[in-house]
Amino acid sequence: MTQDAAAEADDAIGQAIEEHRARRGPLLPLLHAVQERCGHVSDAAVARIAQALNLSRADVHGVVSFYDHFRRTPGGRHSVCVCRAEACQAVGGRALEAEARRQLGTSFGGTSADGAFSLHAVYCLGNCAAGPSVLIDDELHGRVDGARLAGLLAERRARP
Ligand code: FES
Repeated sequence: MTQDAAAEADDAIGQAIEEHRARRGPLLPLLHAVQERCGHVSDAAVARIAQALNLSRADVHGVVSFYDHFRRTPGGRHSVCVCRAEACQAVGGRALEAEARRQLGTSFGGTSADGAFSLHAVYCLGNCAAGPSVLIDDELHGRVDGARLAGLLAERRARP
């Protein structure tokens, strides 16, 4: 992150804190605001939020970790959402989950080392009859196995 970007993120965190600290139950709305403005909830944001709300860092970190929605690191250029719900799991979803983690070299909630993909778990994409299902950015794919996933990722990686 450049110095300018870091200063911008710092301002965005400070502004979000000022907007939310006086509300009742400020933590979740504040975390949402920080992620929306900065793209993720950094360690620095966790520390500032904890101090502002008089919580421990562990308290804030616990909430951030509990919700898959919150990212701890900057997201990838593309998002890969793998369905982990029952209908997909019954037709090979677990193997696909393992393949997605292996191919991207990260776990759910993480980002591939080249910054191309963020991996997310979702619970039903409304495509249950054609599982296992994967949503890559805004494109839904059904009957995805490891080989097909590799092809889809390569194709997406090649896009500008
Ligand atoms: S259970 Fe996977 S799309 Fe519905």
